[in-house]
Amino acid sequence: MSEDRKNKKDKAGEAGEAAVPRHIAIILDGNGRWAKKRGLPRTAGHAVGSENFRKIALYCRDIGVDYLTVYAFSTENWKRPETEVNTIMKLLEKYLHEAIDTMERDRMRMQVFGDVSGLSPRLQELVKQTNEIASRFEGFTANICLNYGGRDEIVRAAGKYAADLVAGRAEGELSEELFSSYLDSAGTPDPDLIIRPGGEVRISNFLLWQGAYSELYFSDVLWPDFGTSELDKAIAEFNNRNRRYGNVG
Ligand code: FPP
Repeated sequence: MSEDRKNKKDKAGEAGEAAVPRHIAIILDGNGRWAKKRGLPRTAGHAVGSENFRKIALYCRDIGVDYLTVYAFSTENWKRPETEVNTIMKLLEKYLHEAIDTMERDRMRMQVFGDVSGLSPRLQELVKQTNEIASRFEGFTANICLNYGGRDEIVRAAGKYAADLVAGRAEGELSEELFSSYLDSAGTPDPDLIIRPGGEVRISNFLLWQGAYSELYFSDVLWPDFGTSELDKAIAEFNNRNRRYGNVG
């Protein structure tokens, strides 16, 4: 458990307050509509959405969340107009560059989930450097899902397991735990809370395996406007839920 989380949990215990979820995952949705409402190009919405990611990630770190996972670019998002895809890729490059320079100082680990082989060589190199720096220390972790799809992740995991099995590197008895270790999220606990701002009520191929028992929270607020008070509301609702994991209450 991170020091931040321990402090927050201790304080929450003293004050009788609810604790924060260990792992929050967010589908970043509504950037385009946010921009359109203001007469701006969709790409302007992505720029503001990226800044909001930074703000929410720092907030999560400060309130004692251990993991934040965001859905930034799906395996299906390549169908968007080329200029929009290019803008999103440039923003991702910018934030990964920044992460490489500051993540150790800011105690914020950044990792990328998704099929990295489909990214540009420049982004692949940045992802490699980011993941390498993240492996050097512990603490709050922000995972960015990039060229990510839940089904694609499961298929890639099955392929990696099959290759290990054929090569004699894996046990023949496949368990849920063993399979999880082949996913991009290996080593990360499942999300407790999945948030989707932007008004749509669907999961859109996000963390299909890991979200089996996650609490879901949907909000009409568009992602660029989804600030810390909106996150507080989601956490408060999470704390009122009764998680039964198939058991009785
Ligand atoms: C969904 O909104 C958003 C995306 C497909 C892109 C999200 C990417 C970023 C915010 C850029 C970089 C991210 C990080 C983490 C640095 P939408 O375009 O589908 O919005 P709409 O539904 O209103 O059209």
